[in-house]
Amino acid sequence: MKKVLGLSFGRKMSNCEVMVKEALMACETAGHEVSFLRAGDLEIKPCTGCISCVVGLTSGRGKGDCYIKDDFHILDEAILDCDALIVASPTYVLSPTGLFKTVCDRLGPSHDIAFRQATYDAGVALNKPTDKLPDVRSFKPRVGALISVGGAMTKNWLSFMLPTMYEITMSMGIDVIDMVEYHGAMAYEHVVGNQPMLSRMAKIGQNIADALSTESETDRTRWRGDDQGACPVCYCDLVTILHDGNRVECPVCGIEGELTLVDGTIKTRFSPEQQNRSRLFFAGKLEHVTEIKTQAVGPGQIPNKAELLVKYRGYGENKG
Ligand SMILES: Cc1cc2nc3c(=O)[nH]c(=O)nc-3n(C[C@H](O)[C@H](O)[C@H](O)COP(=O)(O)O)c2cc1C
Repeated sequence: MKKVLGLSFGRKMSNCEVMVKEALMACETAGHEVSFLRAGDLEIKPCTGCISCVVGLTSGRGKGDCYIKDDFHILDEAILDCDALIVASPTYVLSPTGLFKTVCDRLGPSHDIAFRQATYDAGVALNKPTDKLPDVRSFKPRVGALISVGGAMTKNWLSFMLPTMYEITMSMGIDVIDMVEYHGAMAYEHVVGNQPMLSRMAKIGQNIADALSTESETDRTRWRGDDQGACPVCYCDLVTILHDGNRVECPVCGIEGELTLVDGTIKTRFSPEQQNRSRLFFAGKLEHVTEIKTQAVGPGQIPNKAELLVKYRGYGENKG
């Protein structure tokens, strides 16, 4: 029996919540232990940008902890404890809600498995006690599913939803195996009256249970979603034009590919080498950790910094 966590960023008992719970019920039927969190019930403050989490990890003095005192620890513990995460967010102005982004910021660098693994390995080599090391559950294989919900009738009013929702699974390396975009939610009083969508949610739950039941790593991470998307790693459709011949980039994975025209239809192609360096995978995260560790400069690089900043201090700020 594995643990499945459902997380909703929607209103209490509204569309997102019922959709996540429908998926959880299928997981429970398959024999897994389920739990549900409503993000709006938790007081989660914005990241202040102090980067003490990352400095702690890179210096080996910290475990990725955050100094802010709020309810984030409840969500943190629930995510660390689970084997699978099913998350739903409403669309607010084309993207997930502000609280969703706040949670991603709090989870992001501090929970990056490449940062945490390096700190963990160095600590073990120094015989540090377990409670001084990053939580070993950070490295547990997990699967996830993303559910995007938008009231608008037109799908393009949910443009940045699924690509942005990857931010919640990315740093911890949670393998997304299914995702659903529900547009036109306002065409129903409530999703509880939309049986096809509820059935698709049950399928998400079955897909998660299926992934949790297999011993094979390839089968565990196998894509079970409906669409193949433009990117073969994240299965999203968003691409960035690089203005360099036919080169494009997947903004979720940070990998380069090319556009081709096959029988008048636009296709994307990402080489196996590029796919392997997606930031959804450990190798891609390691590239970023390495560039930070080798190129980011610390304090003392600009000896006259305080002097240079004088003309900006307080400039244009309302004195009243
Ligand atoms: C501030 C705000 C902005 C919204 N912007 C969009 C939008 O850009 N696109 C869209 O499809 N729906 C938009 N909606 C509608 C919500 O996505 C929709 O009501 C959704 O069902 C809310 O999820 P819930 O029922 O689980 O709370 C917006 C709603 C609010 C409150």
